[in-house]
Amino acid sequence: AYSLAVQGACHEVILRDNKVEIAKGKALDMSQAAQSIRSHTVVSVAETMADLKDCDVVVVTAGSPRLPGMSRDDLLLTNAKIMKEVAQGIKEYSSEAIVLVVSNPLDAMVYVAIKETGFPPHRVLGMAGVLDSARMAHFIHEELGYGAGQIRASVMGGHGDDMVPLPRYSTVAGIPITDLLTPGELYEIVENTKNGGAQIVKLLGTSAYFAPGKATAIIVEAILKDSKKIYPCSTLLEGEYGYNDITNGVPVMLGRNGIEKIIELDLDDETKSKFKVSVDSIQEGIDILNTKNFF
Ligand code: 2OP
Repeated sequence: AYSLAVQGACHEVILRDNKVEIAKGKALDMSQAAQSIRSHTVVSVAETMADLKDCDVVVVTAGSPRLPGMSRDDLLLTNAKIMKEVAQGIKEYSSEAIVLVVSNPLDAMVYVAIKETGFPPHRVLGMAGVLDSARMAHFIHEELGYGAGQIRASVMGGHGDDMVPLPRYSTVAGIPITDLLTPGELYEIVENTKNGGAQIVKLLGTSAYFAPGKATAIIVEAILKDSKKIYPCSTLLEGEYGYNDITNGVPVMLGRNGIEKIIELDLDDETKSKFKVSVDSIQEGIDILNTKNFF
């Protein structure tokens, strides 16, 4: 919300939290920051879901955060219940909205949001790949020692331990990083990227804020501006990459209708098998929810 307010991406941002006083305090603080840079964005508070009416985009971060030592999947059931309640509210009061999920475990929460809103899958997506790619770019810079701001890193797969960083699709000023770094260095970058969220959880005692917030704002802006830009997002696969009825992170084109196109990369065999591991791990989570008659 703060990123959106200070980048002037939209006129109105509404915060909704069960802790209404905290939400009010943050809304005032953000609105005043927006005024300070002469941004036109006004930040207010919805005291109930009913006040979150006719939104263009609803970003859902609701859920228990990840605590030290906890994997994103540990959060599955607790957050699925919260997502169900939120999804029902969105369906009732903002039935035309595009829903951007940030809650963890991310890909499973996107699946729950799609099923519980009943919205067409192109209107429900998850933010992860933009964040994971930014983390990968950070680690590429750390390894190279140059090129900050010129790095385009690519990550696909789920937002979990099985995410699939893609060195072959990552460049510095257009130069493939595979030409600049050794296989050992690339391996380190891939492992650090997978561990990037946990590294911050360990240091802070809770989830990261700034990079997830910025990555989310980038996606919201791409949607509101109908930009047709390509970003990695979690989406429902319906035949793409050979999978059906499962969510995972792939490159998509974003516009006013949400996900307007899913881009299918021609993956080599090694990447295909890594992607399969990621899809299978998301499926395990969905299977747990099905076994517990969650839907
Ligand atoms: C992260 O990786 C919050 O899942 C988010 O930091």
